[in-house]
Amino acid sequence: MKQLGAGIAITGSGSATPAVSLDNHALSKIVDTSDEWIRTRTGIESRHLAKAEESLTDLAVASASAAIAQAGITPEDLDLIILATSTADDLFGSASKIQANLGATRAVAFDLTAACSGFIFGLVTGAQFIRTGAYQNVLLIGADILSRWLDWSDRTTCVLFGDGAGAVVMQASATEDDSLLGFELRSDGKQNDCLKLSYRSGSQELTSNVSVGSGSYRPITMNGREVYRFAVQKVPEAIEKALFRANLNTEEVDWLLLHQANQRILDSVADRLKIPQDKVLSNLASYGNTSAASIPIALDEAVRAGKIKPGHVIAASGFGAGLTWGVAIFKWGR
Ligand code: ACO
Repeated sequence: MKQLGAGIAITGSGSATPAVSLDNHALSKIVDTSDEWIRTRTGIESRHLAKAEESLTDLAVASASAAIAQAGITPEDLDLIILATSTADDLFGSASKIQANLGATRAVAFDLTAACSGFIFGLVTGAQFIRTGAYQNVLLIGADILSRWLDWSDRTTCVLFGDGAGAVVMQASATEDDSLLGFELRSDGKQNDCLKLSYRSGSQELTSNVSVGSGSYRPITMNGREVYRFAVQKVPEAIEKALFRANLNTEEVDWLLLHQANQRILDSVADRLKIPQDKVLSNLASYGNTSAASIPIALDEAVRAGKIKPGHVIAASGFGAGLTWGVAIFKWGR
């Protein structure tokens, strides 16, 4: 075991989305909505949707392979794989399947569920294993196929979401070069009812006095206004707290990278923090809300476009069901 006290470097990113996309015009033929309503209320223009036979595991593996290649390591180098998802192919977890498909023979793999905050919660979780010296190379994937769990006749939810996966590789570095500069993780179960993908209990009688449930899940339900209110209040507060811990002010942030839920939320959070629009990463017009995948997909696109450069400071925040919210302030690259 290495000595306690390693730092973290985030050295690779990757992303993958399904080939098929559905724009607002096509969607408005399925459900009572319009391109104008969706664009003005959310900023979303189109979303990528997985076919029935496409698996979350395949999307996750594609994004992970790209991140591993960019980091310049091999799957055998990985010590830990964390899959942040709410829509695993298997309720027992999909991380081990991803491990097998990648050929990451040395790694231990597990799923982590925190809805749209999952990537940030996973980043901080993975970082702890590196900081203690337990592991050197951690793969974090945020992936979701929420289209499987939507009621496509409910216009208040189905217009918002899309499918995809994004990944990063985190590696041990010298303590003085630690790239995770500050974080804040929060949850408030009192507001749990605002956003749910909940178990639907049927009943099966085993004997005259023993009956058990019979499982399936209801489609996603959401109180959009409450979630909106929560996000624009809690996210700026949490970012300020994490920046304070990082001993940074908002002017020192190169990129604001928020969960891609709604352009109005992105604008409002940036305004409150007085971060100019040209520092706000946004790709939700093309992808919609991809839940745990939204932050790493936007990160990967900005890295590959040469916007995010080594040493840039990123303030990333996820928020959503739970309710959960979290912030990680980190530097990109070595
Ligand atoms: N098309 C047309 N009209 C619609 C649609 C639609 N798709 N959806 C709702 N409407 C109607 C409503 O019925 C309502 O009509 P009414 O005034 O006659 O009653 C009207 O539009 C306004 O509805 P609101 O819900 O007030 O619309 P709002 O401006 O709040 O926008 C939205 C809704 C986009 C959902 C917004 O509240 C939002 O983005 N909330 C946050 C969602 C979010 O961030 N989720 C993140 C977490 S996701 C996760 O964790 C998995």
